[in-house]
Amino acid sequence: MELLFSLLFLSLCFSWFLQPTFARGGQQHTSGFGNSSYNARHLFEESRPHFSNDFAQGYMTNSDLDKAIKAFAQRCSNISRIYSIGTSVKGVPLWVIEISDKPGEEEAEPAFKYIGNVHGDEPVGRELLLFLANWICDNHLKDPLATLIVENVHLHILPTMNPDGFSLRRRGNANNVDLNRDFPDQFFPLSDDVNMRQPETRAIINWLRDIHFTASASLHGGALVANYPWDGTRDKRTNYFGCPDDETFRFMASIYSRSHYNMSLSKEFQGGITNGASWYPIYGGMQDWNYIHGGCFELTLEISDNKWPTANELPTLWEYNKMSMLNLVANLVKTGVHGRIFSSDGGRPLPGSITVKGINQSVKASRTLADYHRLLAPRGRYEVMATMPGYKSRSTFIWLEEAAMTLDFVLDPEVTHKGSLLRSGCECDCGNKSRLEFVGFLWGGHLEVCFILIVVVGFLCFLFQRRMKSNFSKHRQVVVPKRPVGV
Ligand SMILES: *[C@@H]1O[C@H](CO)[C@@H](O)[C@H](O)[C@H]1NC(C)=O
Ligand SMILES: *[C@@H]1O[C@H](CO)[C@@H](O)[C@H](O)[C@H]1NC(C)=O
Ligand SMILES: *[C@@H]1O[C@H](CO)[C@@H](O)[C@H](O)[C@H]1NC(C)=O
Ligand SMILES: [Zn+2]
Repeated sequence: MELLFSLLFLSLCFSWFLQPTFARGGQQHTSGFGNSSYNARHLFEESRPHFSNDFAQGYMTNSDLDKAIKAFAQRCSNISRIYSIGTSVKGVPLWVIEISDKPGEEEAEPAFKYIGNVHGDEPVGRELLLFLANWICDNHLKDPLATLIVENVHLHILPTMNPDGFSLRRRGNANNVDLNRDFPDQFFPLSDDVNMRQPETRAIINWLRDIHFTASASLHGGALVANYPWDGTRDKRTNYFGCPDDETFRFMASIYSRSHYNMSLSKEFQGGITNGASWYPIYGGMQDWNYIHGGCFELTLEISDNKWPTANELPTLWEYNKMSMLNLVANLVKTGVHGRIFSSDGGRPLPGSITVKGINQSVKASRTLADYHRLLAPRGRYEVMATMPGYKSRSTFIWLEEAAMTLDFVLDPEVTHKGSLLRSGCECDCGNKSRLEFVGFLWGGHLEVCFILIVVVGFLCFLFQRRMKSNFSKHRQVVVPKRPVGV
């Protein structure tokens, strides 16, 4: 009990100190964690000259937002549904809009989530997310990007994670806890007990148990930069600290910054992106937790220097961020390696894992359909391996271009001795067609013939892909992964 109280007390103090400072967080007061010579460029808040009492004028109140979400769900019921993932401290429902051609249904498609208003005093995101939902609804079957997202992704939008903080016009929630410091931390685990967390944090943690997200982004204000993991360093110093997927994250963050009106022109952040720890380390953040515990690639997007611009600037901010927000979601299906894992005895989907040699982080296939979506930086040679307890692992080399690639795996049970290598690494026809023939040979036990066949097919694929390479990159904007015939 005592421990509980002291922890609560500590976290309250902690968030109180942080409250007026930064976008993603502050480090100046964090007991010497960071470098005190760091001059907070976001301290502008303390001298809010233009902030009168009605600085939220023109922004949706919580009940306006509630109405806007429900109106959206009605207007756009054919490609969306709404659901709540919990309630805030004060009992405000945390509504999520899901956009998909089959909302609420399981499909072999990646899921993406956008979270706005993590910090109560950063309300631009919650407004832009409603712009985003409405734009996709209005442009489905008219605009290729909108259509691509609706048909190939399940997009989940939580406009506000912190409605209480919003109505109090402050960073923390109703208990004044900074929600972006409330997640289990890899280096400084305060407690892994989910019940110790704030209700808003708990809602996110449980959400990740229900839905298998491939990637996500939370929207903040107070700077203009796309921030990627890690957010914290082991020794609390301000240093670049890349996670195993550093290259992929830099690619993702660049998609956001380069599609933005002027994020990539930043003078402070090269290319408009930054590693979290090299900016300033934070602990208990949502971003690192998503990657570690959910295998979900999350970015922290700082989308406006001014945390609380006047409401008439919102349409412009939407225009500045629109292509970024759309492209980040579309990137889930336009790049990376996608496929399913099956069992060779009967073709059952296997909820296994995908690992890439040299990257110490695995991505899980979904529980029922066993589809996986492995984001990877393009233009690279990778060795991709599928594993499943009770089955023999299988790995294959791929050359990943700009466009997405489909790669299914068929795994043999560990107990039997029949069957051997069966790979489906090539998107080219030769690979797909020969798969069925492979199966015949495998069961027939013609292993030598099979081996030669693999070499020949592999060589043909290699030639074919070399020829296609230049074409692929030209067509990047329209290529969507095609499902190969099942095996
Ligand atoms: C802070 O950084 C400056 C230069 O960037 C360095 O000279 C100073 O020693 C650092 N201070 C601490 C406490 O790390
Ligand atoms: C981006 O444009 C906005 C509006 O014109 C301006 O306030 C901001 O300073 C610009 N930022 C960069 C990094 O160019
Ligand atoms: C891989 O990451 C885990 C933590 O996720 C760590 O315990 C392990 O040592 C790492 N392995 C290598 C080879 O770096
Ligand atoms: Zn923030």
